[in-house]
Amino acid sequence: AAIVEHSFEVKNLTGRKLCNEQVITAVNGSLPGPTIRVREGDILIVHVYNKSPYNLTIHWHGIFQKLSGWADGPNMITQCPIMPGNKYTYKFKVINQEGTLWWHAHVSTLRATVYGALIIRPRSGQRYPFPKPDREVPILLGEWWNANVIDLENQALATGNAPANSDAYTINGRPGDLYNCSQNQIYKLKVEKGKTYLLRIINAALNNQLFFKIANHKMTVVAVDAAYTTPYVTDVVVTGPGMTTDILLTADQPVGSYYMAASPYASAPGVPFNNSTTRAILAYEGSTAATPIMPLMPATNDTPTAHKFYSNLTGLAGGPHWVPVPRHIDEHMFITVGLGLEACGTNATCQGPNQQRFSASMNNHSFQQPTSLSMLQAFFFNVAGIYTPNFPDKPPVKFDYTNTNLSNNASLLFAPKATSVKVLKYNSTVQIVLQNTALLAVENHPIHLHGFNFHVLAQGFGNYDPVNSPKKFNLVNPQERNTIGVPVGGWAVIRFRANNPGVWFMHCHLDVHLPWGLATAFVVKNGPTPGSTLPPPPADLPKC
Ligand code: C2O
Repeated sequence: AAIVEHSFEVKNLTGRKLCNEQVITAVNGSLPGPTIRVREGDILIVHVYNKSPYNLTIHWHGIFQKLSGWADGPNMITQCPIMPGNKYTYKFKVINQEGTLWWHAHVSTLRATVYGALIIRPRSGQRYPFPKPDREVPILLGEWWNANVIDLENQALATGNAPANSDAYTINGRPGDLYNCSQNQIYKLKVEKGKTYLLRIINAALNNQLFFKIANHKMTVVAVDAAYTTPYVTDVVVTGPGMTTDILLTADQPVGSYYMAASPYASAPGVPFNNSTTRAILAYEGSTAATPIMPLMPATNDTPTAHKFYSNLTGLAGGPHWVPVPRHIDEHMFITVGLGLEACGTNATCQGPNQQRFSASMNNHSFQQPTSLSMLQAFFFNVAGIYTPNFPDKPPVKFDYTNTNLSNNASLLFAPKATSVKVLKYNSTVQIVLQNTALLAVENHPIHLHGFNFHVLAQGFGNYDPVNSPKKFNLVNPQERNTIGVPVGGWAVIRFRANNPGVWFMHCHLDVHLPWGLATAFVVKNGPTPGSTLPPPPADLPKC
């Protein structure tokens, strides 16, 4: 195992896209930021210098952070932000996981431009559980605004309205030739006939799920969220913000030129979204084609295609780092996830629905970020008053699962604000039914859990049915993930073992749903041994 060290200099710079100049915040002057490559078992050290005018934290999305919760990064959950002019060194061991993860800013909306790939290859001497690809290529899907994203978010939060849609989607930072002034801003991947490529697809978009296709080519999914899958052949990948999908692509078509494209999957009718397509070029060596072939993209509301892809994936049982599904469950939770409303404050110019503001909740608690101390510091130093241990195991209303539409229960529309957590014993096993609500809108919510992978036992539409839904549970080879798209107007069941002490955030990875409150956290207590106890914070942990 090695020590891999990086320096991130985070600064504002002027980017030029879509006929516009825009000040953005970027790492080491590039968008996407630097790709980090480690092998499983390595120690990663990243020195982050905040030379931007904003508060900053960096999150290593999907990394287990075993006994290193101080490096996880969500603002005010595991650390106070790195203030302008300051630095913080993230240090952690990358262990028991392989594949594609990513890193991104985890404060306000900065992750629009502060993100990059984090690639974990097997230890030297170890192999992939699939034929070795000839080349590996990160494919980062993002969004671009012709405006300052921090200003946009502040406006949205001040008015209670939804933030403006992005102006473009991007592949490796480039919008592609369907957008104005972007003829040459297109990513090109050169391939050789007969060779196989491992594409590491990351959805770094803020507010949109995406379809991804390559004209005339099949893709074989071999991992999601840095957990291996049973190889799954498909002509379309569906990916929600936060998710990663590793695919093998063999250049087995006639020598030529093909578009790879990403377009939105907008699960909810009526919710505004950027309806445009970004594309890149897959160019065979020796191709003389003038115009690449374009794939036919699914309709933006093609939920059957999304559901088929998401629910057909299975884990590679017995493969590297495979963890069997826990059979005994200590904690049964049923958590509603969805949007709601909040009364407008006195001086707010309310522009949300019905002269109210957008809000969101889990089990009728709308998560509020603490302001004076991070939750992990409060946990470690036993400081009271930062969070309360009363996040409920169930929503506060009774449902008749067979008759009523749970998701419409109006008593969940106005959720009070709380910084509540669920406290878990070290090593306890947790099963969570995630149930979408339909109070204001139905939508597929990509729910992300920090610090753990979970098994996805089943997912479906409508209300979870305690009698029939468990019959669908896959306890043999379910997919393991860190982000699950809870089907629009539906449910998903996940299970994990809380074997890592600390404070672990769980939230919707649609960016704006986080400040609206679609979040909660797990506080996992220390175990009985030094190997199960969170060590003290590093000396340079930022102060509030
Ligand atoms: Cu990728 Cu809490 O986030």
